[in-house]
Amino acid sequence: MKAITVEPKRPGSARLEDVGEPDLHDGSMLVEAIAVGVCGTDVEIVEGKYGWAPSGKDRLVLGHESLGRVVDPGPSKGFKAGDLVVGIVRRPDPVPCPNCAVGEWDMCRNGQYTERGIKQIDGFMSERWRIEPEYALRVDRTLGLLGVLLEPTTVVTKAWEQVVSIGQRAFWEPRTVVVTGAGPIGLLAALVARQHGMEVHVLDRMTSGLKPDLVRGLGATYHTGSVADIGFEPDVILECTGVGQVIIDAMGAVAPGGVICLTGVGSGGRTVGLPAADAGSKMVLRNTVVVGSVNANKRHWYKAGETLVRADHDWLARLITRRERPENFKHALERTPDDVKVVLEFAQV
Ligand code: BGC
Repeated sequence: MKAITVEPKRPGSARLEDVGEPDLHDGSMLVEAIAVGVCGTDVEIVEGKYGWAPSGKDRLVLGHESLGRVVDPGPSKGFKAGDLVVGIVRRPDPVPCPNCAVGEWDMCRNGQYTERGIKQIDGFMSERWRIEPEYALRVDRTLGLLGVLLEPTTVVTKAWEQVVSIGQRAFWEPRTVVVTGAGPIGLLAALVARQHGMEVHVLDRMTSGLKPDLVRGLGATYHTGSVADIGFEPDVILECTGVGQVIIDAMGAVAPGGVICLTGVGSGGRTVGLPAADAGSKMVLRNTVVVGSVNANKRHWYKAGETLVRADHDWLARLITRRERPENFKHALERTPDDVKVVLEFAQV
């Protein structure tokens, strides 16, 4: 079968190639790939900046934003052939650490977790893949191809849960949310915040086109420029760019008692603004919190599925701005300014 593989940490080593059928070791359920979303992490892996091959191998099958159709459910009674499914990305560490032991692999404490298509387990960019039934989720039929948006939705579902649980340390009735970045994560974060009844503001650099339209389509307000100039102090900031200056500006802009949740993975860059001790003093005197949030556990996958079913499906469909064939994966990894989510299409839904 065909698969997109890469030698992690070797830039430019990605290729579409023939590989053996999926290993039974990856799970008893056999799935035919329908689509796989492309995200910044995939780009980083292809650029040789991130990613780990399975032990004893040089190459990793890429892809963690899956959507597939069950070909053979194996001994599992929970699935049947033809079901649309997505695969959970992370697996608990083998020790296990206390969090992995209770199913909170997203909060793994020793870093020995593994991730499909990212860290030591093959991903989903192959014509067929296998999965353990307990790490698969059935996708509501009405979603069809939109099921490929489930994985990024799990990431923002967890982030929102973190914000709410931190907010509950004191009396707190959040009303306003600023989302920085109108990429797939930012737009899905805005969707989740809207579904929780928040007044949502999304900030991005684009001044026209699809992104402002999508934001308005959610009943949210679109802004360009800095979070420092937004004109009010938001209760929550969901930071979805990973850009240093945006993070620093968010720290100065959030309301007293507010929560900033970082979801973007950036690096480097120069920042201007408050020296660290002054920023720290401001946080102390205003009881503000900055929290990082990565990955998602099964509860978030379940909730994310509900979020997508409840959302306007026409709006979700507009997030998928490009569908590419696996042989064009290189083109799929290049992002144009109006791209939101690019997906590789392996088969029709
Ligand atoms: C994925 C997460 C993963 C993280 C770090 C993200 O792109 O969506 O599932 O935990 O990368 O590897």
